[in-house]
Amino acid sequence: MNILGIETSCDETAASVVKNGKTVLSNTVASSLSHHEKYGGVIPEIASRKQLESIHAVVDEAITSSGCPLKKIDAIAVTEGPGLLGSLLVGTSYAKAVSFALKKPLMPVNHVKAHLYANFLTLPGNASRPAPKLPAIGLIVSGGHSSIYFLEDYTHYELLGQTRDDAAGEAFDKVARILGLGYPGGPIIDRLAKEGKNTRIKFSPSRLDSFDFSFSGTKTAVLYYHQQHRQDPDYQAAQVACSFQQSVISILIEKSIQACLAKSCKTLLAGGGVAANSALRAGLLEASARQGIKAYFPPLPFCMDNAAMVAGYAYHQMKEE
Ligand code: KG4
Ligand code: ZN
Repeated sequence: MNILGIETSCDETAASVVKNGKTVLSNTVASSLSHHEKYGGVIPEIASRKQLESIHAVVDEAITSSGCPLKKIDAIAVTEGPGLLGSLLVGTSYAKAVSFALKKPLMPVNHVKAHLYANFLTLPGNASRPAPKLPAIGLIVSGGHSSIYFLEDYTHYELLGQTRDDAAGEAFDKVARILGLGYPGGPIIDRLAKEGKNTRIKFSPSRLDSFDFSFSGTKTAVLYYHQQHRQDPDYQAAQVACSFQQSVISILIEKSIQACLAKSCKTLLAGGGVAANSALRAGLLEASARQGIKAYFPPLPFCMDNAAMVAGYAYHQMKEE
């Protein structure tokens, strides 16, 4: 079964064709990021206008490069939320029109669940990548969400905990802004933090009793530190970035492992833009291995917003209907 996926929940316009919920035949992503950079964050009105301009070309490219003609598409999947309202409207309207024209079913997909599903995707020629075993614990860390789920199977998720304030990616973006590093902050801090290892600066993470997180205290601690010390001769932004990153990832790792132990799960799935973070990937793999847990991360292109995860997830939703 070939599913055309469409994703427009934030600044990306993405389309993809996925075969049998697994093999990614095409993955086209257009980003309007360069139009938001000067504002230090995504401007919803700009995002939706750019999506309206590009969606037709993006879907066209995804179909052409998949080698699967429109007449062989069996269903259309689209992100229905959560996301920016205007952006979602562009994707869902377009998907409805394609579904109507092709007389094929339309599958609305939850963006957060799709992010975790990205762990089950493979590129053609890489079919040997072993599929994670379920049940699992899912850690979703993106610009808009930070949550821990128990995944009973592909489509049944139980929310165990979530952020009480900023999402992890949002905290990276805000700290990068405080340090004057640019947007989006996650990849910049990830790179810079490597130069700041062995720092003596410490930003302790907030420790809540549940599986919830809170990052705004750490972000404020960085702000105060930066304001008080930026003129010091030995001040190094790389050390601040490293300590901040360590604080965020240490609590993500700790809570994910605790959730695995609480639910007796031997599989841990990460997803979302922050799952591209090199320190989180290394730390989670190491901590999981110590507990006999197998941790998975999506291939890098499938950590960020993409439509392959949407098309892949929809396959399992359809099987249930
Ligand atoms: O999943 P995503 O593409 O969009 C949302 O659904 O939000 O995630 C974007 C977020 C941004 O906040 C970005 O700064 C963060 O993911 N991000 C990273 C890294 N790459 C992207 N955060 C930390 N380290 C990275 N390497
Ligand atoms: Zn996302």
